[in-house]
Amino acid sequence: MKFADKTVLVTGAGSGIGRAVALGFARQGATVVVAARTRDPLEETVRQIESAGGRATATTVDVTDSASVAALVGEIVERYGRLDIAINNAGVFTMGSVTDLPESEWTRVLEINATGVFLAMKHQVAAMRTAGKGVIVNVSSNLGAHMHVPGLSAYAASKAAVTALSRTAALEHIGEGIRINVVSPGPHDTEMSMRPGETEAERETRMKEQVPIGRVGSLDEITGTVLWLASDDAGFAVGNDLVVDGGTSL
Ligand SMILES: NC(=O)c1ccc[n+]([C@@H]2O[C@H](COP(=O)([O-])OP(=O)(O)OC[C@H]3O[C@@H](n4cnc5c(N)ncnc54)[C@H](OP(=O)(O)O)[C@@H]3O)[C@@H](O)[C@H]2O)c1
Repeated sequence: MKFADKTVLVTGAGSGIGRAVALGFARQGATVVVAARTRDPLEETVRQIESAGGRATATTVDVTDSASVAALVGEIVERYGRLDIAINNAGVFTMGSVTDLPESEWTRVLEINATGVFLAMKHQVAAMRTAGKGVIVNVSSNLGAHMHVPGLSAYAASKAAVTALSRTAALEHIGEGIRINVVSPGPHDTEMSMRPGETEAERETRMKEQVPIGRVGSLDEITGTVLWLASDDAGFAVGNDLVVDGGTSL
């Protein structure tokens, strides 16, 4: 029960990595607030947490909207007294080279993936400052700061921004007791790691070629990494960008 008495916010917790991480924190005793734009998948995450004996609530948020993020953080502080841990995981994937990608798609992806993390930290740090402590883990990607693949221009740029922004913010706020780190996953077992029209068997074959370990990461593995970075066991880890990608970017 490493997170007993902790209030944890997980953005993008309506599916995939965010849902798994939310379940992981709840299993370790945390009260979890799950947030994303669409209510039904969030309610399903809450249902799964509660049926495993945990505590969670769902709040809708659009991470590109500062007022929406401020309202979410304000609601958490009002209801639970403080925000101990925030996992900024909400994100979208897109494919398209510099010449192919519509300008509107560039803007959409940068706003969700990069501006979304900026706005989240802006409001979370303000709340954590009042408490004099807090932990933030931002979910980036191995694509961006660590490796470059043709056709992933906006996604890679947005995720490189998450890495640079997080490491800068880590230096800005560690003196106030707020510890910020980044995790950069490679392909994990969610819809996002499937190419359009690809079956799981086809993805498995592609992973054998592209990933040195020969498979996608499991949701338990990425959950374990995020929980470790957020825990006191990683209390001296500041501004790390922890790559968990089965060796892909080596
Ligand atoms: N899966 C992988 O292989 C992989 C690899 C590297 C990095 N990552 C990163 O890991 C994170 C999670 O990926 P995933 O595979 O779990 O994706 P996913 O299943 O598609 O989940 C993404 C979550 O983000 C939410 N979201 C999207 N736009 C949002 C917005 N504007 N405001 C609030 N929430 C928003 C989605 O809900 P709504 O649409 O309802 O808002 C959803 O809950 C992403 O940041 C992704 O880039 C994933």
